[in-house]
Amino acid sequence: MPFPAERPRRTRQSAAWRRMVRETRLTPDALVYPLFVVPGRGVRHPVASMPGIFQLSADEAAKEAKRVAAAGVPAVLLFAAPDRKDAHASDARDPKGLAAQAIAAIKAANPELLLWADVCLCGATDHGHCGHVRDGGVIDNDSSVATLAEVALNYARAGADAVAPSDMMDGRVQAIRALLDREGLASTPIISYAAKYASAFYGPFREAAESAPAFGDRRSYQMDPANVREALREVLTDVAEGADLVMVKPAGPYLDVIREVRDAVRVPVVAYQVSGEFSLIKAAAERGWIDERAAVLETLTGIQRAGADLIITYYAPQVARWLAGT
Ligand code: PBG
Repeated sequence: MPFPAERPRRTRQSAAWRRMVRETRLTPDALVYPLFVVPGRGVRHPVASMPGIFQLSADEAAKEAKRVAAAGVPAVLLFAAPDRKDAHASDARDPKGLAAQAIAAIKAANPELLLWADVCLCGATDHGHCGHVRDGGVIDNDSSVATLAEVALNYARAGADAVAPSDMMDGRVQAIRALLDREGLASTPIISYAAKYASAFYGPFREAAESAPAFGDRRSYQMDPANVREALREVLTDVAEGADLVMVKPAGPYLDVIREVRDAVRVPVVAYQVSGEFSLIKAAAERGWIDERAAVLETLTGIQRAGADLIITYYAPQVARWLAGT
């Protein structure tokens, strides 16, 4: 056999060849954009650690959602940071609470845009944990699950197109599904943050969502970054409980987890390129140390190649515009 039999460079020699043999194609169809809502009117408060990202009042969030939809992004993920914070996460359960009002306002202005509502307690509790705190600082699973189901019901009633529990309590998908079904919301999908790791990359988000825990950390409920078999256990449990989509979070440092999850389930797999992943690229780009557009498209292509069907990213509208050549 003449050497070398294989010359992979033959199909890399021009843009036309590269375009034709490309295995992964990023499209705006796969993108979801997070929105942070705060009380008030006309509020656009920049998040210092996330250049280009703002805390928005509901009216501004509705306008921002219009721009996001116009860019070609099909869905947004809503986080609320209410002023009222207490042990019961009252604002998140309240039909007149910040999240419920913002959901209604955004949907009224953007009926075609899908609105995913993040369901958690951390933005509405005075201690900033994702569940109820018992004596001794223990996060109580089962009482938290009951409250999370109420929050999910509140958001679904307000008009959310899907509810996305991000708390990592055991059994919450089943509890949410049962309550939604009982209340006539059987058509509302559940997007489960199934494999959510206790990550250093959430730092900037906690400023945006005002959700940093007042004591301790989240390692008794979020996953240990060293584990992948446990991620499959989490994902398979959530699918069995009725999750319609499952999520791996963060994305970039967990590409092997995304691949294993994609191979293990039949439901769509979502990956969340989290705040720290965003801010790292932004910071390097602002210093002129990295080509922002090339770096962003490379990270998202890598996440998709690893097996993600959908990607939540703070770059979503920007990427949609880049892909459209505008
Ligand atoms: C809250 C929540 C967090 C994120 C999404 N939902 C933070 C946390 O768990 O501490 C992180 C998102 C990001 O960093 O972009 N449960």
